[in-house]
Amino acid sequence: MKKKVLAAMLCMAMAATLVVGCQGGKESKSAETGDAAEDGGSDVITVGFSQVGAESDWRTANSESMKATFSEDNGYELIFDDAQQKQENQITAIRNFIQQEVDYIVLAPVTETGWDTVLQEAKDADIPVIIVDRMVDVSDDSLFTAWVGSDFELEGQKAGAWLNAYAEAKGIKEINIVDIQGTIGASAQIGRTKGLEDAAKEYGWNLLASQSGEFTQAKGQEVMESMLKQYDNINVVYCENDNEAFGAIDAIEAAGKTVGPDGDILVMSFDSTNAGLTDTLSGKIILNTECNPLHGPRVEEIIKKLEAGETPDKLAYVDEDIFSYGSDVTSVTIDGKDYAVTEVTDDVISQRAY
Ligand code: AHR
Repeated sequence: MKKKVLAAMLCMAMAATLVVGCQGGKESKSAETGDAAEDGGSDVITVGFSQVGAESDWRTANSESMKATFSEDNGYELIFDDAQQKQENQITAIRNFIQQEVDYIVLAPVTETGWDTVLQEAKDADIPVIIVDRMVDVSDDSLFTAWVGSDFELEGQKAGAWLNAYAEAKGIKEINIVDIQGTIGASAQIGRTKGLEDAAKEYGWNLLASQSGEFTQAKGQEVMESMLKQYDNINVVYCENDNEAFGAIDAIEAAGKTVGPDGDILVMSFDSTNAGLTDTLSGKIILNTECNPLHGPRVEEIIKKLEAGETPDKLAYVDEDIFSYGSDVTSVTIDGKDYAVTEVTDDVISQRAY
């Protein structure tokens, strides 16, 4: 692709010392194995994708969407790197992608800050960087080409507005809520936590405690266990993703308490995965605010525009739904805009691809 001439020259000049093979002016190797993979001079587009990890069902669906989109059959070579929730691993992966002269770097950043240096390196190497899912907080916006993902604060606002309307509809006088946060410093955590904190202030809820569950089931369970020991009056838990909610439900039930509309504690969640919606159908999760992971085709659209010499939108927010147990609240209004709340049914779940 773009770097064919330069890569061919480099191959000739450095043939004796290169670790990876050169053919057709393009070279690449797996970030994990170091194995060489060559495109034989075809129009294959090489994409280096630095993925956060595999901490949640959402993340698995996101990785699958990227892998299905950037497949060999579709004309791509995908170099996939799982950073195991560590920013330093993501930085190393990006540096490997730069060395491999990929055509595009796609980054799903674990946290917002700390990217300036490595993204400057990618820019200096003339490799477009597409940010997906969470956002980066950089001093210079030209360090990335485009971003596509969720409005996490809006997700939190929707959940807050829904809880207020539900409490009114059900005559719940006092909200004693705890927040099992996502990975601290991740956009998904920052936005959802802010949505809750603002709602707690506005509606006068008691926000008893906030602690990270790292977006995992195991940590969500551990955090809920400790919160239940500290507070005996919790009547709502705000889990910042489905896997934390699964862990929290296990902890609540193990403590001899019940979840659900007629239980001791209402469990709120984000993501709306198949398993999350199944728990919403039964009422174990009372509200599930969607976060859509199917970003593969969205990132591909950006790459196609760049390949065609067009300028993609710098920022693209994905439309997302709200799913509830029952139909006590049918819509919420945020900043003058109405968002419908969908009651979960078997039909809704059967249409869920992940
Ligand atoms: O950034 C999106 C969040 O990260 C999802 O809510 C969560 O499940 C994932 O791990």
